[in-house]
Amino acid sequence: MAGGADPTRVVLVGFMACGKTTVGESLARRLGWTLVDMDAEIERAAGLSVAAIFQSRGEAFFREEERRLALALQERDRVVVAAGGGAFATPATRETLRRGAATVWLRCDLRIVLDRVRFDGSRPLAPDRETIGRLFAEREPAYRLADLTVDASRRSPEAVAREIADNLFASNAAAVDAGGRPDR
Ligand code: S3P
Repeated sequence: MAGGADPTRVVLVGFMACGKTTVGESLARRLGWTLVDMDAEIERAAGLSVAAIFQSRGEAFFREEERRLALALQERDRVVVAAGGGAFATPATRETLRRGAATVWLRCDLRIVLDRVRFDGSRPLAPDRETIGRLFAEREPAYRLADLTVDASRRSPEAVAREIADNLFASNAAAVDAGGRPDR
C-alpha cells in the first residue's frame, strides 16, 4: 500500500465464506464507493456460474479470468473489491491486486467456515470438510501478506467494515466527504 494518502481502492481477501461480499457491501456503502465482487464479475462476463466455469473450462481458465480482472481493476478508483478466496493465494494475481490498493484480510476461524459452507457444489473447491481444512492451512501465509488484518469471525459485517474504515482512512474522513454516514 502506498504510504501517506488515503487509499482509493480497497481489496478484501480471505478464505471462502468469511464475509468478503457482505463486508464489502457495508464498506462500499459507508464510503460511498462501488463494490466489485470478483466472482460475480467473472460470472457475468462468462454467462456461467463459478461452478459451471470450473466444470466446463477448468480451474486454470477461472484463475486466468481472475488475473485479467485484477489487471482491469487497477484502472478503477473508489472501489471496494471482494476477491474470490483463491485470488490472493495466486502470486501473480495477488501482486496485481496489491498494486495501488489497500488490502485487507478478513480472518475467520476454520470452525465458522465449516459451519457456513454449504456442500451444494456452488463452491467447487469446497467439496468436503477435509479439503477445506487443507486449503485453509495452505492459504493462510498468502492472506497474511495483506496490509491489514481484521477479525471477521463473530462480528457483524457493519462492525468489520467500520474497523476497516477507521484503520484505513484518517478520521474516517472519506466516509464523511463522500456523504456516507460515519455511524457511531
Ligand atoms: C474459490 C473461492 C470462491 C470462488 C471459487 C474459488 C477459492 O470465492 O472464487 O469457488 O479458490 O477459494 P469465495 O471466496 O467468494 O467463496
